[in-house]
Amino acid sequence: MRGGGGAPGVPLLEAEAVERTYRMGGDVEVRALRGVSFRVDRGDYVAIVGTSGSGKSTLLNLIGALDRPDGGHVRYDGRDVREMSDTELAELRNVRIGFVFQSFHLLSRMTARDNVAMPLVYRTSSPKERRRRATEALEAVGLGDRVDHRPTELSGGQQQRVAIARALVTEPALILADEPTGNLDTRTGEEIMGLLEGIQADRGTALVVITHEPEIAGRAGRRIELRDGLVVADAVQIPTRSTPAAVAP
Ligand SMILES: Nc1ncnc2c1ncn2[C@@H]1O[C@H](COP(=O)(O)OP(=O)(O)O)[C@@H](O)[C@H]1O
Ligand SMILES: [Mg+2]
Repeated sequence: MRGGGGAPGVPLLEAEAVERTYRMGGDVEVRALRGVSFRVDRGDYVAIVGTSGSGKSTLLNLIGALDRPDGGHVRYDGRDVREMSDTELAELRNVRIGFVFQSFHLLSRMTARDNVAMPLVYRTSSPKERRRRATEALEAVGLGDRVDHRPTELSGGQQQRVAIARALVTEPALILADEPTGNLDTRTGEEIMGLLEGIQADRGTALVVITHEPEIAGRAGRRIELRDGLVVADAVQIPTRSTPAAVAP
């Protein structure tokens, strides 16, 4: 789904009083999220920040429908993730949300093009069509000349570009990125952020970036801060970007 869809007034993503407790056996519990609420609208650019252990990755797993909350609700277009069938969940994770992780999560034995084509397997398009769209996505991230390379034959920044191409190939409504610059040097990290921002600006894709780096968080239009499993700030901000948003033509 593109940025423009959905019923008016209904947010793309809504977290309402979300709780998650890890039970460690015995009486030991970790209350990783203690009632987190926020909403993300179509085309938003939000940074979620917090120190290590504040609950960022736990929250990403919940809003990415990779894990279930113990309390509260996660909704997409007003629909509770709990009420979705396995097919709907698979569609949500594979088509409507694009994931970008710190460690890229590419399959090392596949070429860049086959990695990018993976999410399209859940749709009915033919192998030829999947290859065409994967190539197009790799061109959009500036890797049109690397389609047959495997991850080990690419730099860290290039691997993250492949992961971004994989995230955008289904034309998702939302890209969820967990520490996308964490394994990259400052300059490459800025390029990666510029690329994600270009997609958000040009395609109207909502962008949620989880980061502990203030410079990265400062680039977003809004900043949500987590502390000890609670939202302690949620405010619009004026982005400070040292590089202009850019995507390859
Ligand atoms: N699988 C798990 N089992 C038990 N505790 C966990 C698990 N994952 C995270 N935690 C704990 O939950 C809290 C939040 O962790 P996490 O969401 O990874 O934070 P962040 O991503 O902000 O560093 C931390 O105290 C962490 O130790
Ligand atoms: Mg984390």
